[in-house]
Amino acid sequence: MNQPSDVPRGRALAEAAAKVIPGGVNSATRYIGPPYAFASATGATITDLDGNSYLDYHAAFGAILLGHNFEPVNRAMAEALGGLDLSGLGVTELEVALADRICEIIPSAESMIATVSGSEATAQAIRLSRAATGRKLIIKFQGGFHGWHDAVARNVISPPDRAYGMDPLSSGILPQALESTLIAEFNDLDSVRALLDEHDGEVAAIILEPIPHNVGALVPTDEFVRGLRELCTRTGTVLVFDEVITGFRHALGGYQQLCGVTPDLTTFGKGMANGYPVGGLAGRRDLMEHFNGRTGDVLLAGTFNGNPLGCAAALATLDHLAEHPDFYTRTFDFGEQMRTGLTKIVNDLGLEAHAAGFGGVFNLYFTPRPPRGYRDLLENDNEAYAAFHRSMIDLGHLMLPIPLKRNHISGAHTQADIDRTLEAAQAALSALAARAD
Ligand SMILES: Cc1ncc(COP(=O)(O)O)c(C=O)c1O
Repeated sequence: MNQPSDVPRGRALAEAAAKVIPGGVNSATRYIGPPYAFASATGATITDLDGNSYLDYHAAFGAILLGHNFEPVNRAMAEALGGLDLSGLGVTELEVALADRICEIIPSAESMIATVSGSEATAQAIRLSRAATGRKLIIKFQGGFHGWHDAVARNVISPPDRAYGMDPLSSGILPQALESTLIAEFNDLDSVRALLDEHDGEVAAIILEPIPHNVGALVPTDEFVRGLRELCTRTGTVLVFDEVITGFRHALGGYQQLCGVTPDLTTFGKGMANGYPVGGLAGRRDLMEHFNGRTGDVLLAGTFNGNPLGCAAALATLDHLAEHPDFYTRTFDFGEQMRTGLTKIVNDLGLEAHAAGFGGVFNLYFTPRPPRGYRDLLENDNEAYAAFHRSMIDLGHLMLPIPLKRNHISGAHTQADIDRTLEAAQAALSALAARAD
């Protein structure tokens, strides 16, 4: 077991951070109490500033796909260093290679733009959809997260009294921006149909995480994804799959490859470059041509878009995945072992909980029934969820102690890691069950 983590160095750095960084962190959900600060990471292990090591399932919110400091990706970046740093004019070979690769592997991709983050990609997707359709409104799902910008910063992990109503993630957003985003229920086609009927001819796009991993892992029914495609085609609405988490993690061609439904636009980020800052938007050529600086009408700008280091990291990540399809068989197998193992533990202990997930993503909902949509998640015992993750941290497993956050198995996790994690889960859940008695 790790020593208590609120020990001097991490805590001291957190206190120093709070003096010069608001709240002491550079992204709101990074403050979780101990461990406060990290120093190094390799493979599936991350080490805090006080020398405590954790088996990492947080994986930087899923940006780490192949394992920390993955040598082929680092090597590709090292090779890119010392060449062209940044030009700001014309195009580079690496940018073209990355766009070529994306168009080759992603079913919906006929052309691609590179961004630096997932938020930039979803912002561009929404602006493009509005420009292409001449319509104002968009539909997102309760529980879906698509970045921090105004159009989508509402209704993610909403409490029961604000779910489906107005639940902005931030002050300072224009009411018109919030009101232009309508909220539907995941896996409920009728809720989407009702909004499209009510706002006939006004909806530019439907944006969804095909598996809403920002609230754990709600797996879509076939009927739901196919139905969305049909509704969008019939009403001239742009269908946007936000594959910032699912892309490359569940299949090289994204979740769209697995479900056989082709969206009009797809956004990427996170694991695409195994931890380095790259995002992207790809899709139908007629739509993407709106970004053409000479003939189109949608602004595409960004000093660091398509930068050589990011492109090198993304290409090395995608190359590795293409050459090692066993990444998918292994992470799916380990994910399944985790779900089966957790199910057995909670059943034996008589806990009201359900293991969920997809592929290498897993989590344990503390709900009376296996959740299908966000409405079921309103019944999640958030305290138990966070307490379970907190106990796992104390047992040397980094999991985010925030309700409904998921865990990620990377290419670096081993069978021994999975066995060790299930042993730790047995201890953590036994303590939770004893507390509940
Ligand atoms: C599904 C999804 N889309 C978009 C984003 C935004 O990406 P970024 O944090 O790189 O801006 C996130 C980030 O968590 C995400 O999970």
